[in-house]
Amino acid sequence: MAILVTGGAGYIGSHTCVELLQKGYEVIILDNFSNSNPEALKRVTAITGKDFKTYNADLLDKQTIIQVFSENEINAVIHFAGLKSVGESVAIPLQYYQNNMTGTVNLCEVMSWYGVKKLVFSSSATVYGATDKVPIDEETTLGAINPYGRTKQMIEEILGDLFRSDQAWSIAMLRYFNPIGAHPSGLIGEDPNGIPNNLLPYISQVAAGSRQRLSIFGDDYATKDGTGVRDYIHVVDLAIGHLHALEKVQSTQGIDAFNLGTGRGYSVLEMVRAFEKASMKSIPYTIERRRPGDAAVCFANPEKARNQLNWQANRGIDVMCEDTWRWQYYNPVGYKETFDKQIVGKTPLHQATGFLMP
Ligand code: NAD
Ligand code: WQD
Repeated sequence: MAILVTGGAGYIGSHTCVELLQKGYEVIILDNFSNSNPEALKRVTAITGKDFKTYNADLLDKQTIIQVFSENEINAVIHFAGLKSVGESVAIPLQYYQNNMTGTVNLCEVMSWYGVKKLVFSSSATVYGATDKVPIDEETTLGAINPYGRTKQMIEEILGDLFRSDQAWSIAMLRYFNPIGAHPSGLIGEDPNGIPNNLLPYISQVAAGSRQRLSIFGDDYATKDGTGVRDYIHVVDLAIGHLHALEKVQSTQGIDAFNLGTGRGYSVLEMVRAFEKASMKSIPYTIERRRPGDAAVCFANPEKARNQLNWQANRGIDVMCEDTWRWQYYNPVGYKETFDKQIVGKTPLHQATGFLMP
């Protein structure tokens, strides 16, 4: 069974490729490395002991997509490729609409020509916009509030139109909540460019000493401690969710959206404490003004995925923070240097922090 994984070198894609390879799927990756590093793929091979074909290609180049489909007997596609920064999408909206929407339309068009009509798509909880009603279920009215979120919402609509035009398609749209964590091997993880926008990459760089302190955006929300609450989900649980969605699209026809979250919210301060425990470092912080566009609370109702995909998240925040820290500790510059170089001269993690490699 051959699965095309677009964006397979990225954060969630690389973790999903590990799970696919370990389950015996043949994997073909298409990525333009605009936000990833080929080193991640070497490490996927190091973890799994398996090789796979990789195309350094852009979804905006339809000829290359055609080449990928003509050279391989693809059964289904998991489509991660896209740009994902909210702030950047406000600054350069046209690039976001072009990359995410045109890329997806090109992909679906070529899939259709080759009769490959099984698709798992990376959507996002961001499609729900600024709702106050939690937990959020899939019936919640959509209303993305920034260009990035609108690309996801519009792609969901495009995929709906595609299915209505041809009911041979089978499409799962996965709305992720807040993915964090890393593979327990410490070999792959999130490698943001420049200053991280998201909470966990920022906290882990503060723990590592490469940033001075965390800015907490607001402590006056109507939450347990005044800081924002989110549904953090371990990236390995998320990756496994894709395999369940793949089974679903292979066995049925239709189109459906599923929340992938834990159903539990943690505040920023709770995450700071959990990370301090995992890393045995203190995380200095200051309280700053609220970040525009942030909701107070956001967490999933994950029942639909449990009932229809037979999937649920199993890893708690302690494991999420330990795995993030292991990745950060052994890869202080992400993929910019090989793993071998980065660990030279490092105190083994269990001596440095008291917790064990798995
Ligand atoms: P990522 O940036 O690490 O991975 C995306 C990959 O797609 C990168 O390797 C990038 O090089 C590639 N890519 C981008 N545009 C491309 C193009 N035109 N052609 C070929 N390759 C292209 O992001 P991620 O965190 O792994 O997210 C994967 C998907 O999940 C994205 O679609 C993202 O919007 C979505 N998502 C992410 C989060 C999150 O917090 N990480 C949350 C919800 C949804
Ligand atoms: C989490 C909490 C912040 C950073 C974003 C995207 C969303 C999705 C996931 C792709 C909030 C607080 C953060 C910091 C802080 N991505 N925070 N200091 O905003 O829930 O979701 O990533 O689809 O579209 O919007 O995640 O990690 O940025 O923030 O206090 O330096 O941490 O205010 O309460 P968010 P986040």
